[in-house]
Amino acid sequence: MSNLVESFIKERKYPFIFTFSALLIWFMILLYANTTTFTTSDPKAFYPDVKVQQPLVQHQHAPPPPLVQDSKDRQELPPKRHEGLLHWEKAFDTNNFSVDWKRCKGVLAADYIPCLDNMKVIKALRTRRHMEHRERHCPNSIRCLLPLPKGYKVPVAWPKSRDMIWYDNVPHPKLVEYKKEQNWVVKSGEYLVFPGGGTQFKDGVNHYTDFIQKTLPTIQWGKNIRVVLDAGCGVASFGGYLLDKNVITMSFAPKDEHEAQIQFALERGIPATLSVIGTQKLTFPDNGFDLIHCARCRVHWDADGGKPLYELNRILRPGGFFAWSATPVYRDDERDQKVWNAMVRVTTEMCWTVVAKTFDSSGIGLVIYQKPTSSSCYEKRKKNNPPICKSSDIKQISWYTKLSSCLIPIPVNGAEKWPASWPNRLTSLPPSLSSESDASDLFDKDTKHWSRIVSDIYMEAPINWSSVRNVMDMNAGYGGFAAALIDLPIWVMNIVPVNRPDTLTVIFDRGLIGLYHDWCESLNTYPRTYDLLHSSFFFKNFNQRCDIVDVVVEIDRILRPDGYVLVQDSMEAIRKLGSILHSLHWSVTLYQNQFLVGRKSFWRPKP
Ligand SMILES: C[S@@+](CC[C@H](N)C(=O)[O-])C[C@H]1O[C@@H](n2cnc3c(N)ncnc32)[C@H](O)[C@@H]1O
Repeated sequence: MSNLVESFIKERKYPFIFTFSALLIWFMILLYANTTTFTTSDPKAFYPDVKVQQPLVQHQHAPPPPLVQDSKDRQELPPKRHEGLLHWEKAFDTNNFSVDWKRCKGVLAADYIPCLDNMKVIKALRTRRHMEHRERHCPNSIRCLLPLPKGYKVPVAWPKSRDMIWYDNVPHPKLVEYKKEQNWVVKSGEYLVFPGGGTQFKDGVNHYTDFIQKTLPTIQWGKNIRVVLDAGCGVASFGGYLLDKNVITMSFAPKDEHEAQIQFALERGIPATLSVIGTQKLTFPDNGFDLIHCARCRVHWDADGGKPLYELNRILRPGGFFAWSATPVYRDDERDQKVWNAMVRVTTEMCWTVVAKTFDSSGIGLVIYQKPTSSSCYEKRKKNNPPICKSSDIKQISWYTKLSSCLIPIPVNGAEKWPASWPNRLTSLPPSLSSESDASDLFDKDTKHWSRIVSDIYMEAPINWSSVRNVMDMNAGYGGFAAALIDLPIWVMNIVPVNRPDTLTVIFDRGLIGLYHDWCESLNTYPRTYDLLHSSFFFKNFNQRCDIVDVVVEIDRILRPDGYVLVQDSMEAIRKLGSILHSLHWSVTLYQNQFLVGRKSFWRPKP
């Protein structure tokens, strides 16, 4: 050995020695870095300390609307392991959070919707004339867990679920009989089967949507028309079939005598929510929808001087369409004609134009209105009625807000603000952001951030993505999470919490859908309607108005057994959440103490 060293020195092999040493040091550094990165989550200790990580993106000035996740929340993503799968650790609860969970009681408990089933308040209402009894009346906190319907099974998977679902999961037979003539839903053995019929399209919805496009060829489903609202949707076959044409429809109807219609829609894997045109604004953003549809949706559009129509005007994009197929359009008895005349008056006052009016081969009539693209027509009206809304009206988020008697002003360059054609619209700069400084840069960074989180972390999480269909993002920001999942056969309900910056118009501009909501209250949806709930730094910033345990009870209500929560949050929030989920008998898995996957089980407390 000494001879070898002597000969190296004598023969002046210094460059070789130098290179060899440098390589050795480099190799040691690499080895050390790799070990520290992937040993931070220790399953035995449940929640060990992690090193403080640097923000992914540093924002000097966040332009309004700011990113929902603050820059300090944005953590550096761990590097991807070369061998593929990330190391998600099963977490064991050492926190001893214990609650003596109770099962909710009563015959209707399995389908309980706290804010819509508050019978004590509903019975005491002084009037029901404006559908007050179908609006939200939330009770105080409910700390019980809902029972499962007898015979409940993991739902039929998409796309088969569009056409058939398990009867035992939603055992409600009334519509089978009540809408027999219109082919809404049929009972067949263990299944409820949906032949695709509706009040105005008994013979199937495809023929009907083609008829709309033929009537007005400007309507290009899945190109310029991407985000649609179906008011009074029934079992949502209209929206369900439009998915084939790359159109995402928010279908809505109240919880009324059309028994379980929205529950059927969601069990089928079709985007839908419980809502009603009553006394309050809908929880959708201004200028959001490309087209609104109503097929005999039983809304009195001209009521109260036309307030329900002003509400449609608010949520319709400038230049957007309202397709109305109802008897006043094509029947001439006195009652229908009275409604038609009232519609003519209100729509003219709102400066809407009739761009098509026609009948199909079976005699069904359709009228299509278009909202103006500038406010100039408002100024030319003889009477300023309805007036243009004041800025105090406009700033209010539509959450427990009364229907207004005014028209929201149309943004300048309304005509130019129509988003890019789908699918470019998803990643193009949303028109509602374009005037903001730095907006383009921020938006691109947000899109890339989510694309990386989804591909590098979420796709390698212990989630069976092929079993996932109905997804909810609890604090959606710009909708980056939903955008990154666009190639999967899923849909995402993007929730913008009412106490966070209002990014919902941006989400709609991108061709996605969502709602405003306050997570201190229960959501307008049936139990067991979502497969996966996602949140990003939501629990950390959760305000102190309510208890995190109540939020978890609500998550448990709306998530299906075998469904997932997927959470990125601070270590403290992850610890708290993990402990509560353990107490509910869920399995909990962690990655880097920053990401949590919880899987709901079929466990329920004893009755
Ligand atoms: C005759 S059905 C039509 C269903 C569906 N559009 C179709 O074509 O098959 C009437 C629908 O309007 C809904 N509806 C009734 N009043 C409503 C209101 N005030 N706001 C929203 N939807 C309403 C009902 O719940 C039901 O879904």
